Amino acid sequence: MLAIGLLSCIIMLSIAAIKAPAQKDRNLQVLPKDISDEKLDSIMQTYNKALGVKCDFCHVKAKGFTDSLDYVSDLEPMKEEARKMMRMVIDINKKNFHYNKKDRPEYLNTVTCKTCHRGEPFPPED
Ligand code: HEC
Ligand code: HEC
Repeated sequence: MLAIGLLSCIIMLSIAAIKAPAQKDRNLQVLPKDISDEKLDSIMQTYNKALGVKCDFCHVKAKGFTDSLDYVSDLEPMKEEARKMMRMVIDINKKNFHYNKKDRPEYLNTVTCKTCHRGEPFPPED
């Protein structure tokens, strides 16, 4: 019994050791790579609100005995769908509205997810 406990403890520790450095690598293809944690979090919060969903709408559950999500993973197809929408929104704001050229186009919010979604994950098309 003690041996099993010890063994699983060692296994869990080695998994943690393998996983820990990977957490630092960001998988950002649309948002600026130098984004702060606070800015990233506040943008993600706006997605939840605009679509009326939780973080797990776009992010898969992390492996193992945990309730946390694996934000780096692209396994949830909704995440890629969201990237398309993000590119579209950046494009709309950049091309159609005046903005201070010192501002990052990724951070403009003349048109936002909420403009169309209004709390719905799939806004009606008519
Ligand atoms: C509508 C879909 C959607 C929702 C909802 C969403 N996210 Fe994201 N999230 C994304 C996308 C897309 C990316 C990748 C952005 C990119 O490629 O630039 C991302 C990236 C992230 C990252 C960076 C991961 C990395 O690679 O380091 C974190 C952290 C994150 N989200 C946290 C959250 C949290 C916390 C919530 C809930 C408050 C949330 N997300 C809700 C779509 C979503
Ligand atoms: C110009 C209007 C508009 C804006 C702005 C917009 N969306 Fe959408 N979005 C839609 C419509 C319409 C649908 C439903 C399309 C469908 O069902 O094919 C949709 C569907 C989605 C879906 C579901 C994917 C799918 O294939 O149906 C996700 C995820 C999503 N939007 C995320 C976002 C995020 C995140 C933002 C902000 C970065 C955003 N949207 C901004 C109009 C918009």
